[in-house]
Parts: sequence; structure tokens; C-alpha cells
Amino acid sequence: MNVENGFVDEPVPAGIDLKEEIKKLKKEKDAVILAHYYQTGEIQDLADFIGDSLALAQIAQKLENRMIVLCGVHFMGETAKILCPGKKVVVPDTNAGCSLADSCPADDFSRFVSEHPGHMVVSYVNTSAAVKALTDVVVTSSNARKIVEALPEDAKIIFGPDRNLGNYINSVTGRNMVVWDGACHVHEQFSVEKLVELKKAHPGAKVLAHPECKKAVIILADKVGSTAALLKYAQESDEKEFIVATESGILHEMRKSCPEKTFIPAPPADSTCACNDCSYMKLNTLEKLYNALKYELPEIHVDPAVAEAARKPIERMLAMS
Ligand code: 13P
Ligand code: SF4
Repeated sequence: MNVENGFVDEPVPAGIDLKEEIKKLKKEKDAVILAHYYQTGEIQDLADFIGDSLALAQIAQKLENRMIVLCGVHFMGETAKILCPGKKVVVPDTNAGCSLADSCPADDFSRFVSEHPGHMVVSYVNTSAAVKALTDVVVTSSNARKIVEALPEDAKIIFGPDRNLGNYINSVTGRNMVVWDGACHVHEQFSVEKLVELKKAHPGAKVLAHPECKKAVIILADKVGSTAALLKYAQESDEKEFIVATESGILHEMRKSCPEKTFIPAPPADSTCACNDCSYMKLNTLEKLYNALKYELPEIHVDPAVAEAARKPIERMLAMS
């Protein structure tokens, strides 16, 4: 089967009920579907588990199934494969990359690390396996604060690759980590001006923001957290209206689990769109998911030596979470 394009480029049989066929294939193949909150609603609804990056890694580590279909981006598939080397891990489309992970090539990061002798290396999970292999402890947006606070107070620390998350963690922990200058093209896109306008139009609304957003957006937020933390805040809050500054896929679960509440996407700058979508996350479709299950392709492979080196900081993170 040809997966040169990064996905199985086969037409799905005409007239089939795709969702039912995916459910059948999943059972036949002893597969489990893990989906990130930024996937399309129809993929989230078919998944066995949905979650943020931390939850997906924690779930992957405990699974007994033969195959994992990771509906998310490439680094999430890599993390699952590193944690479960004996399992087959497939992603519907391996072109689903991440601009943040791409902003930190392993060679450049290695040079950066060697320019800062005596520093511990803390890396966000949105990195390649090769960058994780250079890392002491991996973090996600869910646990970055807790893990950095647990490091010795006098530790010199490098944080990569997200400058917004790194600066935010510095501001809430009082640490002075040396931060790599990377960013996510989606979260950097939120328009501060449009957000201020939205707040004026909805004075009672609480603003929820992912820590990958720029400082000016974070300052306007009532709650800063990972996708799972923002969802939990909305579910537990007595408020009825929320402005959401993260990728728009999260709105699906927010609306589903809180039908009586209103969720308003914060708009990106330079666009007439109301929502901010991650084009990588949205490369995964039902058709590609069906083919990934059927052909068990495209499979994620990680060089065993890199995987071995990357597993330690991921396991350290899971133990500290
Ligand atoms: P979470 O850690 O909230 O899942 O975020 C992952 C991500 O890619 C954010 O852009
Ligand atoms: Fe990467 Fe940004 Fe997409 Fe998250 S939203 S996967 S950080 S490009």
C-alpha cells in the first residue's frame, strides 16, 4: 500500500456507513482510537478516549490493545509509540505536523543546550522525539507549572520551544528559565483588538486562554490552562458565557458537555474567520481514519536509540504529574 503522500490514498468503498465501518474495524483489529480535543467533532465522537496531550500520553501508557490510532498530530503519535514500543501506532495523516515542534530543529536545539552548560533541559511535549532525547524532563501545558516548581529552586533551566508558555511559566513561578524562541502559528494568531471588542460585547463572559497565546491575550484571560483545564473550568463554573482563545476543536466538547452554556471562539487576526483552526490537526478526516484502521498505515516509527533516550524524560514527566 502506497503511503508516499503521508496517508493511505485509497477511495473508501461507495455507499458504506463510514462511522459504523470504523467502529467494526476497531473491534476486528483490537485497536483503540485516541483523539485530541482539536480534532473534528465527528472524529472526537468516534474516539474511545479524547483528551489533551497529557491525558493521551497517560492513556496510551496503560492500554492493552494491539494498535493505537492516534488522531492528533505527529509528535503525539511519536509519544504514544515511545511509550508503547511493542504496539502498532498509526496516525491518519503523517503530514499533521506542528509549527511549534517545527520551530525547534534538534540540531539547533542541541547547540542551544551546549551553549548553556549546567542547565537542566525542560521541553514541551510539542517537540520531535530527537528534541525530547536532549531533554531532562518533558512537560505539557497541564503540568508545566507543577513540574518546574518541583525542580530545585537554584536550578538553571532551559525551556523549549514555546516562548509564550515558557514566559508564562516564568511569570507564575518566579523562575528565570532561558526560553527558546519558538511559537505556535495558531495561538499566536489571536487578535488582541478583536478579543477586547468581544469582551465589550459580552461583559459577563469569562475568557479562557491556552498558555501558548501571546502575553497580551493571557493578561485578558480569566483562566489560563491546557485544553483539558479550560474544559474543566467551563464545566465547573457557574458562569454561562465563555470566550475561548484556543484552537476551535475544543468548542465541540465544551458545547456537548455544557449545552446550557455559550462558548464564543476568540477570532484570529488577519482573517475574516470567527474561529482559529490548526490546519495540521484538521488534516485528519473520517476517510483517512477509516483507511488507517483498514490498512494499519501510515505507521509511526521512531529510531530505537532516539526512542530510548526520549522515553526517560517522558516517563519522568508522567511520574511527576
Ligand atoms: P494541550 O496540551 O492543551 O493538549 O495542547 C496541545 C497543543 O497542541 C496546543 O496547541
Ligand atoms: Fe502545534 Fe499549534 Fe497545531 Fe497545537 S495548535 S498542534 S501547537 S500547530
